[in-house]
Amino acid sequence: MRMIVRGARLSHTEGDGPRGLSDVEVGEDGRIARVVPYDDRKEPPATGTLVEARGALLTAPFVEPHIHLDTALTAGEPRPNVSGTLWEGIARWSERKRTLTREDVIARATEVLRWQAAQGVLHVRTHCDVTDPSLTALDALLEVRDRVRGFMTLQIVAFPQEGIVSFPDGEALLREAVARGADVVGAIPHFEDTREDGVASLGIAFAVAEEYGLRVDAHCDEIDDEQSRFVEVLATLALRSGLRERATASHTTAMGSYGGAYSFKLRRLLSRSGINLVSNPFANLNLQGRFDGYPRRRGLTQVKEMLAAGVNVAFGHDDVMDPWNALGTASPLQTALVGLYAAQLTGDAEIATAFSMVTDRAARVLGLGPDEYGITEGAPASFALLPAPTPQEAIRRQVRPSHVVSHGTLLAETPPTPTRLTWPGEGPTEVDFSRSHPS
Ligand code: FE2
Repeated sequence: MRMIVRGARLSHTEGDGPRGLSDVEVGEDGRIARVVPYDDRKEPPATGTLVEARGALLTAPFVEPHIHLDTALTAGEPRPNVSGTLWEGIARWSERKRTLTREDVIARATEVLRWQAAQGVLHVRTHCDVTDPSLTALDALLEVRDRVRGFMTLQIVAFPQEGIVSFPDGEALLREAVARGADVVGAIPHFEDTREDGVASLGIAFAVAEEYGLRVDAHCDEIDDEQSRFVEVLATLALRSGLRERATASHTTAMGSYGGAYSFKLRRLLSRSGINLVSNPFANLNLQGRFDGYPRRRGLTQVKEMLAAGVNVAFGHDDVMDPWNALGTASPLQTALVGLYAAQLTGDAEIATAFSMVTDRAARVLGLGPDEYGITEGAPASFALLPAPTPQEAIRRQVRPSHVVSHGTLLAETPPTPTRLTWPGEGPTEVDFSRSHPS
């Protein structure tokens, strides 16, 4: 046996599973050999790495379903986004894009992947701007994907930031990116010059995906315009092409402006289509509503309603210290916290759902099967041990995993950092932020 995690509470946010403590045994092949009930009278094995969980929460790795590693860590370069709009962000990035080098992209992307690994994120879908005739960022990210293969999954979306139809040679660049090895086909229909161009761009994205046997993940309706209705086009293409759950609509912020009658029709279509939605609360709480007076719209996916309609919805971080979001550490638990407030998922079961939106539900977006993801026998021994008894407590206290394990190898450790408080009139004590929480 290579490793045993003793006395862990397995995370089952939305399904059934053992409620007591479990031991997870990791075989020499880096896969989970056995999951058995914890018995405190039993001696731990003499060989292999021993991790005493003491009731801590063991979760399958966090999954980042939507990030931009090519733009990450470029905030303020060459100038800040003063208006705070999506549009000025694209203009600032367009300037920065001209100065990209292979080394620059590799260094920034790797830095963020290191942050993610340290926080238990082992599966990442990154968008990569391919409206750049040199495809510098794409080639660099393909190289990074190879370097992390074996301990992290990196899916690269060929993302036409400045359009497929409206950008010179947009379709040719998209096709070239896929030919060079991008994993997923992107689009940005609301940024195209006309409604018709937007529809055509989605048609091209689906055609390329079908040709290469790939998934689709489009930036879709990221605008406070109730007339922006490309998600219905994407869902219909997903239905008719048979791509269904292999298609994802990201951002979908115009949904925050749709009226009741159209929303009702849309929910029915989306649940039938099987597509995934990725809501990015950090970026869109920042970017949306910038053209409104008051009342000011939130500009977010109808997360709660879509979940109730049976649509798979995940939360993504999106931008990390770039022209669209100056802050961020790529923390999935920050994303879940911001997301649950933005979408008002504040009931106890809803907080657990928010946790699943950065784990299980995000894994479905990436298409990770049971042989690749989950705390089950035969799956890769990849997981994060969180110093909290429940997903709700993990989110509330914004904990960092004490241990991150990938394929049976310890990747990251964060020891506890107690805070000592000397309350006036009392001696020094260690502050305990934990509280029992209904679950
Ligand atoms: Fe995005």
